[in-house]
Amino acid sequence: MRTYSEYSDDARFLEHGSFFQGNPYDSRFVNIRYDKASDRAVVTRCMHVDGIVDPPPDKSIAQRAALLAAIGDGTSRLVNYPSSADPQSTLSCLRQLGIAIEKDGEDILVHGKGLDGFSAPDAPLDCGNSGTTMRLISGLLAGRDFDCVLTGDASLRGRPMERVAGPLREMGARIALNAGCAPMRMERGPRLHGITYRLPMPSAQVKSCVLLAGLRATGRTTVIETLPSRDHTERMLNLAPVEAEGARHIPIEGNRSVPARTWTVPNDFSAAAFFMVAGAVAPRGAVLLRKVGLNPTRSALIGVLEEMGAVIRIANREESGGEPVGDLHIEASSLRGVRVDGARIPLLIDEIPILSVAGALAKGRTEIRDARELRFKETDRIGAMAENLRRLGVSVEEFDDGLAVEGPAALQGNIVESWHDHRVAMAMAVAGLMADGETVIKDASCAAVSFPNYWETLASVAL
Ligand code: S3P
Repeated sequence: MRTYSEYSDDARFLEHGSFFQGNPYDSRFVNIRYDKASDRAVVTRCMHVDGIVDPPPDKSIAQRAALLAAIGDGTSRLVNYPSSADPQSTLSCLRQLGIAIEKDGEDILVHGKGLDGFSAPDAPLDCGNSGTTMRLISGLLAGRDFDCVLTGDASLRGRPMERVAGPLREMGARIALNAGCAPMRMERGPRLHGITYRLPMPSAQVKSCVLLAGLRATGRTTVIETLPSRDHTERMLNLAPVEAEGARHIPIEGNRSVPARTWTVPNDFSAAAFFMVAGAVAPRGAVLLRKVGLNPTRSALIGVLEEMGAVIRIANREESGGEPVGDLHIEASSLRGVRVDGARIPLLIDEIPILSVAGALAKGRTEIRDARELRFKETDRIGAMAENLRRLGVSVEEFDDGLAVEGPAALQGNIVESWHDHRVAMAMAVAGLMADGETVIKDASCAAVSFPNYWETLASVAL
């Protein structure tokens, strides 16, 4: 049997994108071994990245869909809802708030109870590792007639929550934090009132928190963003942003009911990104990633990789649930260094760990700046990637707001840390595929936060 790239001339790719029936070689456990007992992944060099991947469903969109379904009037259907840990945390919090959620075949049915339908939880709501769950649900829980507490794992309890508590307090909420972090104690209080809020940092989570709070508040709420970030919430609520004075003003009228509906979740661009880079930096081969969300506020990595010299084609473009989707085809390419900063950063914020791996393998200097927000993710992703790439022999300069790498580096396998951050673990696996010797990734199971079968999937294309 031949591999995917041997078939991938244009006509066949466009017409028969799905004819390939799995990997012809049982490469599993060759380039990548996951050891459950030690929770370590061991990765060795591959010569060829080749195959077809359906990335997992998009967790950002799925989590928003679940929240909107819960406050919707009646039963909503979630199609292609992810089994990954973060979106499951959203569902378990909603269940604790009295929302009935059931499986219907592959779909999830959420029996929404309207804007005021949540009931008091009998225990703290555990958001797990999910910043999106905590920050967005806090917008829906402020100004209720019950008290509740939002908590999460050690990583989430170390992340800044004043950024959502601040604007919610301006809207009238009573929230107590622990040194700026979770547990977030949301006290019962009067219904919130609308405000105009200028985001101090580009953050789709903060933006979405305020917009969701505005949905139930009295009067109009307007969020102003100077640097656009992912716009899923605006799309899903059919909001109409206005450009004024160099900023995006996003108004939402309060006390607006949300109709029940079917939400179809596209596959996750941020999960696809690891395979895009693996396909581009491998010596040979090509990868096809199917039905991937291509929202321009999420997919700036495509333009950056193209600027680096990657050969990327997009086919089967369509619209699904208000979001553009398509198939991405990436060929082994010779990459050169790039500078990424300014307004592009929020549009690829979650892809920076894997972009720094691409930079280390590209010819010349890759510099990523204006990305200080990365220090507040599941771990400090600037520090984490700088340290891990150095352990593989890359020359890295670290800045407060980013990093620069010199490539192409002759990567040498070593033991690296994930710091329990899914994107750090997954990015280092791609680096390991291009390194001599063994790269050992510690606490590798954290990939399941967004990509439950990452290790098998990567192994199946790394030949
Ligand atoms: C997300 C927004 C981003 C991103 C996170 C998911 C969202 O966070 O890093 O993975 O779903 O809105 P910030 O809003 O904090 O930048």
